[in-house]
Amino acid sequence: MNSETPRLVGAALERARTSGFEYSCDPAVGRLLATLAAAVPENGRVLELGTGVGVGTAWLVSGLLPRTDATVTSVESDPGRGAAAASGDWPGFVDLRVGDGIDLLAAEGGYDLVAAEGGYDLVFADCVAGKHVGLDRTIAALRPRGVLVVDDMVPAPGVTWDEGFAVRQEGVRRTLLSHERLVALELAHGSGVILATAR
Ligand SMILES: C[S@@+](CC[C@H](N)C(=O)[O-])C[C@H]1O[C@@H](n2cnc3c(N)ncnc32)[C@H](O)[C@@H]1O
Repeated sequence: MNSETPRLVGAALERARTSGFEYSCDPAVGRLLATLAAAVPENGRVLELGTGVGVGTAWLVSGLLPRTDATVTSVESDPGRGAAAASGDWPGFVDLRVGDGIDLLAAEGGYDLVAAEGGYDLVFADCVAGKHVGLDRTIAALRPRGVLVVDDMVPAPGVTWDEGFAVRQEGVRRTLLSHERLVALELAHGSGVILATAR
C-alpha cells in the first residue's frame, strides 16, 4: 500500500459523502489501522465494532491485501449503513454483519485461554458497544498479543463534549491505560488514539 488512497477506501469515502455519513475514521487513523492489519499473524482475525459505511473496514482490508488468509469481521447496528457498507466490492475474507456489537462479543465468548481459540488479533472498537458499554468484553476478546485501537479520544476542533460523554471517554481511557492485561499508550494521532496490546 503506497501513500495514495487505496481503492476500497476511496469507494467507501464516496459512500460516506453521498449518504452524508460524517463519522468515518479520519485518514491518519485509517493508515494506522492498515499498518496494524498488515502485522496480523497468518490466518489472523480482525474485528471492527461499528462499520459505518465501511471506511475503517476499507483501511483494515487495504492493509491486509494482497493477503487473503485473515478474516475481517465488522458489525453495524444501523441496517441502512450496513447495507451501504455491504454494497462495496469487498474481498471474500470480509464478513459484514448487521447487529449489535455487544451481541457479537457475547456470542463469541472472548478468547479461550485453555483451548487457545476464539478471540481477535486486532480490534477497532469504534462505537458505543464494546467501548463505552462492554469494554471488558472487548478486552476479553483479544488474543494474547492482540491489539485494540480506539480513536476519537479528543474532541474534534470546535466540538465540546457534554459532561456525560466526557466522563465515559475518561472511563475508557482509565480502563485501557491501567488494565492489568494490557500494555497501552495514548497517541496524539488523528482524532486521538489509544493503542493497547494484550499480554
Ligand atoms: C464512529 S461510527 C463508525 C465508523 C467506522 N468504524 C469507520 O471508521 O468508518 C460508529 C458506528 O457504530 C454504529 N453503532 C452504534 N451502536 C452500535 C452497536 N451497538 N453495535 C454496532 N454498531 C453500532 C453506528 O450506527 C455508527 O455507524
